Amino acid sequence: MRIVAGSASKHVARFAASYLGARLSEVIVKRFPDDECYVRIMDNLDGEDVVLVQTTYPDHNLVEALLLQDAIREFKIKKLITVVPYMAYARQDKKFHDGEPISARAMSQHLCLNSDGMVLVDVHDTAITKHFRVPTVNVSAMPQIGEYLHKSARVDLIVSPDDGATEHAKKVAEVVGCNWSFLEKKRIDGNTVEIAPKHVGAKDREIAIVDDIIATGGTILAATKQLKLQGAKKVMAACTHGLFTGGAIPKLRSVCDYILSADTIENETTIVSAGPEIAKGVQQLMTQL
Ligand code: R5P
Repeated sequence: MRIVAGSASKHVARFAASYLGARLSEVIVKRFPDDECYVRIMDNLDGEDVVLVQTTYPDHNLVEALLLQDAIREFKIKKLITVVPYMAYARQDKKFHDGEPISARAMSQHLCLNSDGMVLVDVHDTAITKHFRVPTVNVSAMPQIGEYLHKSARVDLIVSPDDGATEHAKKVAEVVGCNWSFLEKKRIDGNTVEIAPKHVGAKDREIAIVDDIIATGGTILAATKQLKLQGAKKVMAACTHGLFTGGAIPKLRSVCDYILSADTIENETTIVSAGPEIAKGVQQLMTQL
């Protein structure tokens, strides 16, 4: 088996390759003077099962993924599994007005065209996997986040900022060995959220809020403020996908005691690797293909 790492996912691909005992292929990625993308795979992939790992955010990384799939298909490979550590557009899975696309479907269909199987990580809504026309496995980085918190911090309580992320909170709490709870969130618009004053027993506790994505940071900011109002001693924020748009990190650092994310989107808070869980997903998928 060979692993091909796109330029957005080198860290996570290295961890997955080492867990799978597979070799990482050498890849060249450059830009033409007009900024179009150029890719070249420097290894011979003939006769191999190939795993391509590439986050599709921001948009230029999606283009790179499509080009790498095509380059891989130029060899006489056995199977191609595409791993998308952060699946962009997964939050745009509904039409709100006539004339809009179902963006999650559009992206899924294109990524599946050249794949025999797909592995996703904490995809925002697993319902979008219905758009994937090849076998698809969704793995979670939450067990790795739980292990990190268990080893490196004192955590008394795991909190999800809304009832949509309770599965994540449960997974982390199970590994840490503590209780979990959830807050009630109301989204006002893309940049504004409100967290209801729901009592979660925060007084004097060291708490980790967990979510699949931190984007503007509005959700975590409001949740942290609510937990501190309830008397929390410490509030940490942990997520799989750290998008951190519009200066979110300094804003969050001003209220949170610690911020961490996985390497599905590499950034300055990345401390946990989703690689081991991706490797398990690839192994599971290989038994189905
Ligand atoms: C929403 O359902 C997600 O789980 C996250 O809570 C959301 O994407 C976070 O966005 P932001 O950081 O912009 O509040």
